[in-house]
Amino acid sequence: MESLTVSQKMTQAKDFLPINGTDHIEFYVGNAKQAAHYYKTAFGFQSLAYAGPETGVRDRASYVLQQGKIRLVLTTPLNSKTAISEHIKIHGDGVKILALWVDDAYKAFEETVSRGGKVYMEPVTLKDNDGEVRMSGIYTYGETVHLFVERKNYAGLFLPCYKAWNSKYNPTDAGLLYVDHCVGNVGWGRMNPTIKWYEDVMGFVNILSFDDKQINTEYSALMSKVMSNGNGYVKFPINEPAEGKKKSQIEEYLDFYEGEGVQHIAVATNDIVTTVKELMARGVEFLDAPPNAYYEDLPNRVGKIDEDIAPLQELGILVDCDEEGYLLQLFTKPVEDRPTLFFEIIQRKGAQSFGAGNFKALFESIEREQAKRGNL
Ligand code: FE2
Repeated sequence: MESLTVSQKMTQAKDFLPINGTDHIEFYVGNAKQAAHYYKTAFGFQSLAYAGPETGVRDRASYVLQQGKIRLVLTTPLNSKTAISEHIKIHGDGVKILALWVDDAYKAFEETVSRGGKVYMEPVTLKDNDGEVRMSGIYTYGETVHLFVERKNYAGLFLPCYKAWNSKYNPTDAGLLYVDHCVGNVGWGRMNPTIKWYEDVMGFVNILSFDDKQINTEYSALMSKVMSNGNGYVKFPINEPAEGKKKSQIEEYLDFYEGEGVQHIAVATNDIVTTVKELMARGVEFLDAPPNAYYEDLPNRVGKIDEDIAPLQELGILVDCDEEGYLLQLFTKPVEDRPTLFFEIIQRKGAQSFGAGNFKALFESIEREQAKRGNL
């Protein structure tokens, strides 16, 4: 098993839940109007659709943003009595829904619930003049949800109840293409049960594992296992804190999110240097660059790469390799005041892994930020 490449391991996933990719990611936020402005201005997302009182939705407002194949939905409650308000009160702004694009939302529900999936949304068919969308949903870790979205008979912009969002403010995009992976943080002792849940309920396969011997710094540690569906379009690494001299960064997340949830969303680009320069110019804050020694050692560690090292070093972009190629990546600081959700920008040049060779440099950088917050 260990001698197989990541790509070979993916083929061992079960096929009872075919998934075409990430449909959208929905955030529950305190002020969706302002959050939408941030994701347009800072990350280059484009206005796509809107739902709220003007479209007949009374209890919430939702803004849909798109860039490449990435669709974000930012939802805010319009009163204090909804489940959305409760979610925000506990967790702050964060990801509620990782929606998956399927061919049959009713079958996806049956297959997963019969294997132990906990019901979030019974199958429904939503209709408007553009056709119908079928949806269902189950809970994953914490209060996070996987929604199954079937849209083969729908020609509308996003979902029924949404109308086009035509804005006069349209910053250019930043070259972000698709969701590469979404990482979940779970509590002490909860990684393996969560991995088993993805195997049993979703038919996913564990393609990579890192223990606390591999992922540790002077102070803190974590463990991580990566789950993938069969075609590799949907990948969910799961992190658990581990004992170290000081508090694990995963524990800091769990404390501030007040539970398990999405730690980071990795979005792909074909030109990470241009994308990161653009994002920095727009005010996105990234983790500090690793020390010079990291770049001096780079040719030895990853071999020959297409990119010049100088601009990578200037921007703090990290590089790692596996047997299938290499990848370039960089992580933002948390995008809200609680030290919870952040983004990763990733460019893959053949590698199917997640940058394990960068973990030490990355975590030392995260810990410097954690120390500034007084949480290390
Ligand atoms: Fe990642």
